[in-house]
Amino acid sequence: MSDPQIDWQALEVAAASARRHAHAPYSRYLVGAALVTRSGRVFSGCNVENASYGLCLCAERSAIAAMVTAGERDPVALVVTTNGPKAGSPCGMCRQVLAEFAEDLPIQLDVAGDPTATRRTSLAALLPDAFRASDLG
Ligand code: THU
Repeated sequence: MSDPQIDWQALEVAAASARRHAHAPYSRYLVGAALVTRSGRVFSGCNVENASYGLCLCAERSAIAAMVTAGERDPVALVVTTNGPKAGSPCGMCRQVLAEFAEDLPIQLDVAGDPTATRRTSLAALLPDAFRASDLG
């Protein structure tokens, strides 16, 4: 899955930078996400936890909200950076939210400070047979 037109390095930097702003005093699991849209704009987000644990916002949905707020709707690649030792994969809720805006999406999963832990996947692999607006009839 190599996309020569995607500047993966820029996304890596943006996701790592967003992760530094994570508000995760409860889990101490810091997550940053950065996506690029078809127009070339990069949007990032971090996880934002709350003392009422169920209100925690994931980094991926935070990045999607930033994209939509800016009037964009077409992400073409995503990088997520997490704690190690293994790169964390987007949760089920985030997969569904990503599927609202992309049929498929190349996704790179990074561990902060450990380039050897990087792995690539895709939204279609993570969420096959997604429920979509078209299913509403
Ligand atoms: N988290 C994310 O930001 N993205 C995911 O896809 C998985 C989980 C956050 C939520 C919470 O703040 C922390 O990681 C631990 O679950």
